[in-house]
Amino acid sequence: MLDRILAADSLQSLDSVRVALLGKSGEITAKLKSLGGMDAETRAAEAPKIHALRGRVTDAIAGRKAELESAELERKLATEKVDLSLPAPDSISGTVHPVSQVMDELAEIFADLGFSVAEGPEIETQWYNFTALNMPENHPARAMQDTFYLEPRAPGDEPYVLRTHTSPVQIRALEVHGAPIYTIAPGRVYRSDSDATHTPMFHQVEGLVLDRNITLGHLKWTLETFLKAFFERDDLVLRMRPSYFPFTEPSAEVDVGWSMEKGRRVVGGSEGWMEVLGSGMVHPRVIANAGLDPDEWQGFAFGCGIDRLAMLKYGMDDLRAFFDGDIRWLKHYGFKALDVPTLSGGVGA
Ligand code: DAH
Repeated sequence: MLDRILAADSLQSLDSVRVALLGKSGEITAKLKSLGGMDAETRAAEAPKIHALRGRVTDAIAGRKAELESAELERKLATEKVDLSLPAPDSISGTVHPVSQVMDELAEIFADLGFSVAEGPEIETQWYNFTALNMPENHPARAMQDTFYLEPRAPGDEPYVLRTHTSPVQIRALEVHGAPIYTIAPGRVYRSDSDATHTPMFHQVEGLVLDRNITLGHLKWTLETFLKAFFERDDLVLRMRPSYFPFTEPSAEVDVGWSMEKGRRVVGGSEGWMEVLGSGMVHPRVIANAGLDPDEWQGFAFGCGIDRLAMLKYGMDDLRAFFDGDIRWLKHYGFKALDVPTLSGGVGA
Protein backbone atom coordinates (compact mmCIF):
# COMPACT_ATOMS: atom_id res chain seq x y z
CA MET A 1 0.00 0.00 0.00
CA LEU A 2 2.74 2.44 0.93
CA ASP A 3 4.47 1.65 -2.38
CA ARG A 4 1.40 2.70 -4.29
CA ILE A 5 1.25 5.99 -2.37
CA LEU A 6 4.94 6.77 -3.02
CA ALA A 7 4.54 5.82 -6.67
CA ALA A 8 1.77 8.41 -7.22
CA ASP A 9 3.39 11.04 -9.41
CA SER A 10 0.65 13.66 -9.47
CA LEU A 11 -1.95 15.05 -7.08
CA GLN A 12 -4.67 13.39 -9.18
CA SER A 13 -3.12 9.92 -9.10
CA LEU A 14 -2.47 10.31 -5.37
CA ASP A 15 -6.13 11.12 -4.89
CA SER A 16 -7.12 7.96 -6.81
CA VAL A 17 -4.89 5.92 -4.49
CA ARG A 18 -6.49 7.63 -1.49
CA VAL A 19 -9.99 6.75 -2.72
CA ALA A 20 -8.92 3.16 -3.46
CA LEU A 21 -7.61 2.77 0.10
CA LEU A 22 -9.66 5.03 2.35
CA GLY A 23 -12.75 5.81 0.24
CA LYS A 24 -16.21 4.40 0.93
CA SER A 25 -15.42 1.10 -0.80
CA GLY A 26 -11.67 1.36 -0.26
CA GLU A 27 -9.46 -1.52 0.89
CA ILE A 28 -8.83 -0.20 4.39
CA THR A 29 -12.46 0.78 4.80
CA ALA A 30 -13.35 -2.81 3.90
CA LYS A 31 -10.94 -4.10 6.58
CA LEU A 32 -12.54 -1.79 9.13
CA LYS A 33 -15.99 -2.99 8.14
CA SER A 34 -14.88 -6.64 8.49
CA LEU A 35 -14.24 -6.03 12.21
CA GLY A 36 -18.00 -6.17 12.77
CA GLY A 37 -18.20 -9.79 11.62
CA MET A 38 -15.34 -11.04 13.83
CA ASP A 39 -15.71 -12.71 17.15
CA ALA A 40 -14.59 -10.64 20.12
CA GLU A 41 -11.20 -12.27 20.53
CA THR A 42 -10.15 -11.91 16.87
CA ARG A 43 -11.50 -8.36 16.80
CA ALA A 44 -9.45 -7.42 19.87
CA ALA A 45 -6.34 -8.70 18.09
CA GLU A 46 -7.11 -7.27 14.62
CA ALA A 47 -8.61 -3.85 15.45
CA PRO A 48 -5.36 -2.18 16.65
CA LYS A 49 -3.48 -3.50 13.57
CA ILE A 50 -6.10 -2.17 11.16
CA HIS A 51 -6.28 1.20 12.91
CA ALA A 52 -2.51 1.47 12.90
CA LEU A 53 -2.44 0.63 9.21
CA ARG A 54 -5.02 3.30 8.53
CA GLY A 55 -2.91 5.80 10.50
CA ARG A 56 0.25 4.95 8.50
CA VAL A 57 -1.58 5.18 5.20
CA THR A 58 -3.19 8.51 6.13
CA ASP A 59 0.20 9.94 7.16
CA ALA A 60 1.90 8.63 4.03
CA ILE A 61 -0.76 10.20 1.82
CA ALA A 62 -0.40 13.54 3.61
CA GLY A 63 3.39 13.38 3.30
CA ARG A 64 3.28 12.53 -0.40
CA LYS A 65 0.69 15.26 -0.97
CA ALA A 66 3.00 17.88 0.59
CA GLU A 67 5.90 16.66 -1.59
CA LEU A 68 3.83 16.81 -4.76
CA GLU A 69 2.45 20.23 -3.90
CA SER A 70 5.85 21.72 -3.29
CA ALA A 71 7.16 20.17 -6.52
CA GLU A 72 4.18 21.70 -8.31
CA LEU A 73 4.95 25.11 -6.77
CA GLU A 74 8.60 24.82 -7.81
CA ARG A 75 7.51 23.96 -11.33
CA LYS A 76 5.12 26.96 -11.46
CA LEU A 77 7.77 29.30 -10.09
CA ALA A 78 10.19 28.11 -12.74
CA THR A 79 7.79 28.34 -15.66
CA GLU A 80 5.63 31.34 -14.69
CA LYS A 81 8.52 33.70 -14.15
CA VAL A 82 7.61 37.39 -14.50
CA ASP A 83 10.31 39.86 -15.38
CA LEU A 84 9.32 42.84 -13.26
CA SER A 85 11.83 45.04 -15.01
CA LEU A 86 9.93 44.79 -18.31
CA PRO A 87 7.63 47.73 -19.09
CA ALA A 88 3.96 46.91 -18.45
CA PRO A 89 1.92 46.58 -21.62
CA ASP A 90 -0.25 49.68 -22.17
CA SER A 91 -3.41 47.62 -21.92
CA ILE A 92 -2.84 46.84 -18.26
CA SER A 93 -0.99 49.89 -17.00
CA GLY A 94 -2.92 52.31 -14.80
CA THR A 95 -2.38 56.05 -14.75
CA VAL A 96 -1.64 58.57 -12.05
CA HIS A 97 -4.72 60.70 -11.33
CA PRO A 98 -4.20 64.40 -12.11
CA VAL A 99 -4.89 65.25 -8.46
CA SER A 100 -2.07 62.93 -7.32
CA GLN A 101 0.14 64.33 -10.04
CA VAL A 102 -0.50 67.91 -8.93
CA MET A 103 0.14 66.96 -5.28
CA ASP A 104 3.50 65.51 -6.34
CA GLU A 105 4.27 68.65 -8.31
CA LEU A 106 3.44 70.83 -5.30
CA ALA A 107 5.62 68.74 -3.01
CA GLU A 108 8.43 69.00 -5.57
CA ILE A 109 8.17 72.77 -5.98
CA PHE A 110 7.91 73.48 -2.25
CA ALA A 111 10.63 71.00 -1.34
CA ASP A 112 12.92 73.08 -3.55
CA LEU A 113 11.99 76.12 -1.45
CA GLY A 114 12.83 74.23 1.76
CA PHE A 115 9.26 73.29 2.78
CA SER A 116 8.30 70.00 4.39
CA VAL A 117 4.99 68.18 3.87
CA ALA A 118 2.61 67.86 6.86
CA GLU A 119 -0.51 65.78 7.31
CA GLY A 120 -3.57 65.79 9.54
CA PRO A 121 -6.73 63.70 9.98
CA GLU A 122 -9.79 64.09 7.75
CA ILE A 123 -12.09 63.51 10.74
CA GLU A 124 -11.33 66.53 12.86
CA THR A 125 -12.41 68.11 16.12
CA GLN A 126 -14.18 71.43 16.05
CA TRP A 127 -11.27 72.87 18.02
CA TYR A 128 -8.76 72.23 15.22
CA ASN A 129 -11.14 72.87 12.32
CA PHE A 130 -12.65 76.08 13.72
CA THR A 131 -11.93 77.30 17.25
CA ALA A 132 -8.13 77.25 17.18
CA LEU A 133 -8.29 79.04 13.82
CA ASN A 134 -10.00 81.98 15.49
CA MET A 135 -13.53 80.86 14.63
CA PRO A 136 -15.15 80.44 18.05
CA GLU A 137 -18.63 78.94 18.39
CA ASN A 138 -21.32 81.21 16.94
CA HIS A 139 -18.68 83.00 14.87
CA PRO A 140 -20.39 83.86 11.57
CA ALA A 141 -17.40 82.45 9.66
CA ARG A 142 -18.42 78.92 10.68
CA ALA A 143 -21.52 79.34 8.53
CA MET A 144 -19.31 80.22 5.51
CA GLN A 145 -18.42 76.56 5.19
CA ASP A 146 -21.15 73.93 4.78
CA THR A 147 -19.87 71.49 7.34
CA PHE A 148 -20.55 67.76 7.58
CA TYR A 149 -21.04 66.96 11.27
CA LEU A 150 -20.58 63.40 12.52
CA GLU A 151 -22.64 61.72 15.23
CA PRO A 152 -21.04 62.36 18.63
CA ARG A 153 -19.24 59.29 20.03
CA ALA A 154 -21.20 59.55 23.29
CA PRO A 155 -24.35 61.56 24.05
CA GLY A 156 -23.39 65.08 25.06
CA ASP A 157 -19.94 64.91 23.37
CA GLU A 158 -19.08 67.55 20.84
CA PRO A 159 -19.58 66.14 17.33
CA TYR A 160 -16.50 65.61 15.17
CA VAL A 161 -16.53 67.19 11.69
CA LEU A 162 -15.13 66.19 8.32
CA ARG A 163 -12.48 68.87 7.98
CA THR A 164 -13.77 71.67 5.77
CA HIS A 165 -10.29 72.89 4.88
CA THR A 166 -6.63 71.94 5.33
CA SER A 167 -6.05 74.89 7.70
CA PRO A 168 -6.35 72.73 10.89
CA VAL A 169 -3.05 71.10 9.87
CA GLN A 170 -1.43 74.49 10.63
CA ILE A 171 -2.23 74.05 14.32
CA ARG A 172 -1.29 70.37 14.40
CA ALA A 173 2.04 70.97 12.64
CA LEU A 174 2.90 73.81 15.01
CA GLU A 175 2.05 71.68 18.05
CA VAL A 176 4.32 68.88 16.83
CA HIS A 177 7.22 70.79 15.28
CA GLY A 178 7.01 74.29 16.78
CA ALA A 179 8.61 77.24 15.02
CA PRO A 180 10.40 78.09 12.79
CA ILE A 181 8.32 76.09 10.33
CA TYR A 182 8.04 76.01 6.55
CA THR A 183 5.47 73.44 5.52
CA ILE A 184 2.67 72.56 3.11
CA ALA A 185 -0.27 70.25 3.86
CA PRO A 186 -2.09 68.80 0.87
CA GLY A 187 -5.17 66.64 1.39
CA ARG A 188 -8.86 65.91 1.13
CA VAL A 189 -11.49 68.27 2.51
CA TYR A 190 -15.29 68.02 2.67
CA ARG A 191 -18.20 70.41 2.28
CA SER A 192 -21.88 69.81 1.74
CA ASP A 193 -21.97 71.31 -1.73
CA SER A 194 -22.41 69.83 -5.20
CA ASP A 195 -22.61 71.29 -8.71
CA ALA A 196 -20.38 71.54 -11.82
CA THR A 197 -17.65 73.34 -9.89
CA HIS A 198 -18.19 71.86 -6.39
CA THR A 199 -18.01 68.29 -5.14
CA PRO A 200 -18.64 67.23 -1.52
CA MET A 201 -15.03 66.01 -1.34
CA PHE A 202 -12.23 67.99 -2.92
CA HIS A 203 -8.55 68.75 -2.33
CA GLN A 204 -6.68 71.68 -0.90
CA VAL A 205 -3.11 72.51 -0.10
CA GLU A 206 -2.31 74.62 2.91
CA GLY A 207 0.93 76.54 3.24
CA LEU A 208 2.38 77.78 6.51
CA VAL A 209 5.50 79.74 7.30
CA LEU A 210 6.27 80.88 10.82
CA ASP A 211 9.62 82.41 11.68
CA ARG A 212 11.06 85.68 12.93
CA ASN A 213 10.65 88.80 10.78
CA ILE A 214 8.40 87.34 8.08
CA THR A 215 6.52 89.95 6.05
CA LEU A 216 3.84 90.20 3.36
CA GLY A 217 6.72 90.54 0.90
CA HIS A 218 7.84 86.97 1.69
CA LEU A 219 4.26 85.79 1.12
CA LYS A 220 4.02 87.47 -2.27
CA TRP A 221 7.43 86.19 -3.40
CA THR A 222 6.63 82.63 -2.31
CA LEU A 223 3.26 82.59 -4.08
CA GLU A 224 4.71 84.09 -7.24
CA THR A 225 7.60 81.61 -7.30
CA PHE A 226 5.24 78.70 -6.65
CA LEU A 227 2.66 79.70 -9.29
CA LYS A 228 5.30 80.43 -11.96
CA ALA A 229 6.94 77.05 -11.37
CA PHE A 230 3.61 75.24 -11.27
CA PHE A 231 2.15 76.76 -14.43
CA GLU A 232 5.56 76.85 -16.07
CA ARG A 233 4.97 80.42 -17.27
CA ASP A 234 7.34 83.32 -16.66
CA ASP A 235 4.67 85.81 -17.77
CA LEU A 236 2.41 84.83 -14.87
CA VAL A 237 1.08 87.94 -13.13
CA LEU A 238 -0.31 87.94 -9.63
CA ARG A 239 -2.83 90.30 -8.05
CA MET A 240 -3.54 90.47 -4.32
CA ARG A 241 -6.95 91.75 -3.24
CA PRO A 242 -7.72 92.65 0.40
CA SER A 243 -10.09 90.08 1.86
CA TYR A 244 -11.18 88.53 5.14
CA PHE A 245 -10.29 85.20 6.73
CA PRO A 246 -10.63 84.72 10.49
CA PHE A 247 -7.19 83.06 10.74
CA THR A 248 -5.17 85.74 8.97
CA GLU A 249 -4.76 89.49 9.45
CA PRO A 250 -4.35 91.15 7.02
CA SER A 251 -5.86 88.71 4.50
CA ALA A 252 -5.64 88.69 0.73
CA GLU A 253 -7.23 86.76 -2.07
CA VAL A 254 -4.84 86.07 -4.90
CA ASP A 255 -5.75 86.22 -8.58
CA VAL A 256 -3.63 85.18 -11.53
CA GLY A 257 -3.85 86.86 -14.91
CA TRP A 258 -5.15 84.86 -17.88
CA SER A 259 -5.15 85.32 -21.62
CA MET A 260 -6.85 83.64 -24.57
CA GLU A 261 -4.81 81.08 -26.50
CA LYS A 262 -6.44 79.06 -29.29
CA GLY A 263 -9.90 79.83 -27.92
CA ARG A 264 -8.97 78.71 -24.39
CA ARG A 265 -8.34 80.70 -21.26
CA VAL A 266 -4.82 79.96 -20.11
CA VAL A 267 -2.84 81.21 -17.13
CA GLY A 268 -0.33 83.95 -18.06
CA GLY A 269 -0.68 87.46 -19.43
CA SER A 270 -3.33 89.81 -18.04
CA GLU A 271 -6.42 89.93 -20.26
CA GLY A 272 -8.46 89.04 -17.19
CA TRP A 273 -8.12 87.74 -13.63
CA MET A 274 -9.14 84.59 -11.84
CA GLU A 275 -8.94 83.80 -8.18
CA VAL A 276 -6.66 80.91 -7.22
CA LEU A 277 -6.10 81.10 -3.49
CA GLY A 278 -6.62 82.75 -0.13
CA SER A 279 -3.78 83.93 2.08
CA GLY A 280 -2.61 86.32 4.74
CA MET A 281 -0.41 86.91 7.76
CA VAL A 282 -1.16 84.34 10.46
CA HIS A 283 -3.45 85.86 13.11
CA PRO A 284 -1.69 86.29 16.49
CA ARG A 285 -4.55 84.42 18.17
CA VAL A 286 -3.92 81.39 15.94
CA ILE A 287 -0.24 81.38 16.91
CA ALA A 288 -1.19 81.58 20.60
CA ASN A 289 -3.78 78.79 20.16
CA ALA A 290 -1.00 76.56 18.84
CA GLY A 291 0.96 77.24 22.04
CA LEU A 292 3.52 79.72 20.64
CA ASP A 293 4.26 83.34 21.50
CA PRO A 294 2.90 85.67 18.79
CA ASP A 295 5.32 88.40 19.89
CA GLU A 296 8.22 86.13 18.99
CA TRP A 297 6.86 84.36 15.90
CA GLN A 298 5.07 85.63 12.84
CA GLY A 299 4.41 84.37 9.38
CA PHE A 300 2.02 83.76 6.54
CA ALA A 301 -0.42 81.09 5.45
CA PHE A 302 -2.30 80.28 2.29
CA GLY A 303 -4.92 77.81 1.13
CA CYS A 304 -5.47 76.72 -2.43
CA GLY A 305 -7.82 74.31 -4.25
CA ILE A 306 -5.79 71.53 -5.84
CA ASP A 307 -8.50 70.27 -8.19
CA ARG A 308 -8.87 73.75 -9.62
CA LEU A 309 -5.10 74.03 -10.12
CA ALA A 310 -5.22 70.74 -12.03
CA MET A 311 -8.16 71.92 -14.16
CA LEU A 312 -6.41 75.18 -15.04
CA LYS A 313 -3.10 73.54 -15.86
CA TYR A 314 -4.32 70.49 -17.74
CA GLY A 315 -7.49 71.91 -19.31
CA MET A 316 -10.36 69.93 -17.77
CA ASP A 317 -13.75 71.66 -17.58
CA ASP A 318 -15.88 69.53 -15.29
CA LEU A 319 -14.77 68.89 -11.73
CA ARG A 320 -17.25 66.04 -11.24
CA ALA A 321 -15.40 63.92 -13.83
CA PHE A 322 -12.42 63.88 -11.44
CA PHE A 323 -14.26 61.54 -9.13
CA ASP A 324 -16.31 59.40 -11.55
CA GLY A 325 -13.54 56.82 -11.95
CA ASP A 326 -14.26 56.62 -15.70
CA ILE A 327 -11.39 54.64 -17.22
CA ARG A 328 -11.54 56.62 -20.50
CA TRP A 329 -11.14 59.91 -18.62
CA LEU A 330 -8.30 58.47 -16.56
CA LYS A 331 -6.51 57.22 -19.68
CA HIS A 332 -6.91 60.62 -21.32
CA TYR A 333 -5.98 62.88 -18.40
CA GLY A 334 -3.89 60.49 -16.28
CA PHE A 335 -0.12 60.48 -16.11
CA LYS A 336 2.35 57.65 -16.65
CA ALA A 337 3.48 56.32 -13.30
CA LEU A 338 7.15 56.71 -14.18
CA ASP A 339 6.86 60.36 -15.26
CA VAL A 340 7.87 61.74 -11.90
CA PRO A 341 7.73 65.54 -11.79
CA THR A 342 11.07 67.24 -11.34
CA LEU A 343 11.79 70.91 -11.47
CA SER A 344 14.63 70.36 -13.94
CA GLY A 345 12.51 68.24 -16.28
CA GLY A 346 9.42 70.44 -15.83
CA VAL A 347 6.92 69.62 -13.12
CA GLY A 348 4.33 68.57 -15.65
CA ALA A 349 6.76 66.24 -17.42
N1 DAH B 1 -9.07 77.75 4.61
C1 DAH B 1 -9.52 78.67 3.58
C2 DAH B 1 -10.69 78.05 2.83
O1 DAH B 1 -10.84 76.88 2.84
C3 DAH B 1 -8.41 78.96 2.62
C4 DAH B 1 -7.35 79.79 3.25
C5 DAH B 1 -7.40 81.17 3.17
C6 DAH B 1 -6.30 79.21 3.94
C7 DAH B 1 -6.43 81.95 3.73
C8 DAH B 1 -5.32 79.99 4.52
C9 DAH B 1 -5.41 81.38 4.41
O2 DAH B 1 -4.29 79.49 5.18
O3 DAH B 1 -4.43 82.15 4.98
O4 DAH B 1 -11.42 78.77 2.21
